[in-house]
Amino acid sequence: MKENIIEKALSFARESFKDDYSGHDFEHTERVYKTAVYLAKRENADELLTGVCAVLHDVDDRKLSPATCENKDRARAFLLSEGVSEDEIERIVKIISQVSFVGADSPAPDSLEGKCVQDADRLDAIGAVGIARAFSYGAVHQRKMYDADIKPLLNAKSEEYLKQRENTTLNHFFEKLFLLKDMMNTETARKMALKRDALMHCFVDSFISEWEGKA
Ligand code: ADP
Ligand code: NI
Repeated sequence: MKENIIEKALSFARESFKDDYSGHDFEHTERVYKTAVYLAKRENADELLTGVCAVLHDVDDRKLSPATCENKDRARAFLLSEGVSEDEIERIVKIISQVSFVGADSPAPDSLEGKCVQDADRLDAIGAVGIARAFSYGAVHQRKMYDADIKPLLNAKSEEYLKQRENTTLNHFFEKLFLLKDMMNTETARKMALKRDALMHCFVDSFISEWEGKA
């Protein structure tokens, strides 16, 4: 693979996400790319492979616009059109599918590059940017920011059930975002996650105090 594949993949991703406001906008992809390459450097992973997988990690996501859902093989089609070898395409597609696999007991990606991309994707859900993304998501889905009477569902088995009930954005911190720091694959990401997690705790504590008129 040539170095310029990254520029081309970035243009392809920019085009894929131009109509998306679900939290999978192009800027998310750009951040995940930068963080994944940073992790790859620190962890001695293949930077080019990590970068390509990071840029393409969400282009086949089923949560994207319906137009995108109809075409499940966008990453593969792009790589083919760029003349990437069959072997490399298989490697990349496998990593992407492992990174985006959803499910409570999903196994960690089996390559170091996949681990870096998954960590970068999870890091983007926490910290200052993670807070902003959670409230953007809440606004798009017309959720309340907070309601003391709607308790977070901890250790809930079914994600579908979580999605169907009336819920608040603050609860998302307890149900998912505070759990992510313990789910990092790499040591570098674990350290970054600790800082971002502390910031979220500080934010949530202040938010509830202010809401209750205590601060
Ligand atoms: P991914 O596909 O990257 O795992 P999701 O599609 O689940 O992420 O979420 C995209 C963004 O929206 C993330 O920042 C996530 O924290 C946020 N988000 C997802 N579900 C909720 C929710 N119920 N409340 C608030 N934010 C949410
Ligand atoms: Ni993502």
